[in-house]
Amino acid sequence: MSKRNIDTAFFGQPKGLSTLFFTEMWERFSYYGMRAILLFYMYYAVTKGGLGMNQVTAASVMSIYGSLVYLSNIVGGWLSDRLWGSRKTVFIGGVLIMIGHIVLSLPMGLVALYVSIALIVAGTGLLKPNVSDMVGGLYSANDRRRDAGFSMFVFGINLGSAIAPWAVPWAANGFGLHLFGNEMNFHAGFSLAAIGMFFGLVQYYIGGKKYLSDDSLMPTNPINHKGLVKVGKKTIIGLVVVAILLGILAIMGQLNINNIIGLITIVAILLPICCFWTMLRSPKVTKIEHSRVLAYIPLFIAAAIFWGIEESGSVVLALFAQDRTILHIGGWHFAAANFQTLNPLFIMILTPFFVRLWEHWKRQPSVPGKFAWGLVFAGLSYVWMAIPGTLYGTSGRVSPFWLVGSWFIVEIAEMLISPIGLSVTTKLAPNAYRSEMMSMWFLADAAGQAINSQIVKYYSASTEIPYFLVIGGVSILFGILMFFLVKRINVLMDGVH
Ligand code: GLN
Ligand code: ALA
Repeated sequence: MSKRNIDTAFFGQPKGLSTLFFTEMWERFSYYGMRAILLFYMYYAVTKGGLGMNQVTAASVMSIYGSLVYLSNIVGGWLSDRLWGSRKTVFIGGVLIMIGHIVLSLPMGLVALYVSIALIVAGTGLLKPNVSDMVGGLYSANDRRRDAGFSMFVFGINLGSAIAPWAVPWAANGFGLHLFGNEMNFHAGFSLAAIGMFFGLVQYYIGGKKYLSDDSLMPTNPINHKGLVKVGKKTIIGLVVVAILLGILAIMGQLNINNIIGLITIVAILLPICCFWTMLRSPKVTKIEHSRVLAYIPLFIAAAIFWGIEESGSVVLALFAQDRTILHIGGWHFAAANFQTLNPLFIMILTPFFVRLWEHWKRQPSVPGKFAWGLVFAGLSYVWMAIPGTLYGTSGRVSPFWLVGSWFIVEIAEMLISPIGLSVTTKLAPNAYRSEMMSMWFLADAAGQAINSQIVKYYSASTEIPYFLVIGGVSILFGILMFFLVKRINVLMDGVH
């Protein structure tokens, strides 16, 4: 038995889990803390500490930013597998993320915003897939603590995500001390995000040396010089194509943020299509694997719709919190940004319940059945949001419990889709495309948010009822369609449960 197997120093888990737990907790703290205030920072007037952007553009940027963060995972996975090994890749990622938040903490306006987005997209792409991968690496193949270890890791994600929407807006509001008068100082909030990532990095560096295996210092599938030159050439060609496209837009006088968002949207939708196409046509994929990839297509589409709705919580629901919600309960006052805590909070509350449910429920739905229910619940969380406007009109403010209810419903959907999708993705992956398939799971989120970046443009208080009804309705319709496909998808999955 190796030394790793008997290491039980962190609640019965290897000590390395504590290092990865806190790294990801702080990283998510910085990410979701920043996102809780970023939307408002972008569209608040300059006199109120914001950038004075158009609200519609700000909402669109929020979504495409979220999409890019998951698109860049592909690059991060590749760099770790082929070049740097996960330990170093995660560290570099963390440093980029921290610098990204520092840039936003400086009063440098729009330029700082875009530089920060670029740094955090790159940094998260390097950090996120590899930190999860290292959790898997803590356990030998037959270590029974593996699932419990992952559950604890996910708890860390949500803990950081739940605390940040209180801490970061609180810093932006002058720590409750009226440091900035009645103004917001968003930069103070972004500084706290940077400090969070700094804590994460310090303990990662110290703990990593002591508790993470030396294997993580090496790439798993190192690339040789020839391969590197080939990839380098392809990268340069890619960059040139992008530059030409941007040049053409510039010449046509069309180089603006909306068109750039449009281009990224197209990439985020085409990329998974190309990946499916490549896998389905690959001679390395066996007949059974081919059928499993086919089964993954409807699951992928369902996941993209679900993530589209889930991720709109930091955009559409954030706007609803700001413009349409009463921001106090009795004498207890809170900020619109604080609502972002509800998503991770409900995940933490609901997870133990669902773990038990799956353990004990004998006739539980199959994976596609759970996805179908997930779509129905995601859709209902939106349909629910059409009720307050219908009852009371869309010009005043309504009880915060409408938002609480919506988040509760969408988190039931998350329980039905997120952990189940993650696990089925690994099981349906063809052998030759293991890590690519893992990236596919994040591409579903990226595609959902890319579509959001286009449809959020139609959201405003005056359109909220049809907006919530139509999108919620589409999700429910896909859910119903999925119920009809359950049997077929199960046949295609060929023995995978
Ligand atoms: N919200 C989760 C996180 O931030 C999951 C994201 C996802 O799986 N797309 O880690
Ligand atoms: N919803 C975010 C995640 O799944 C917080 O963890």
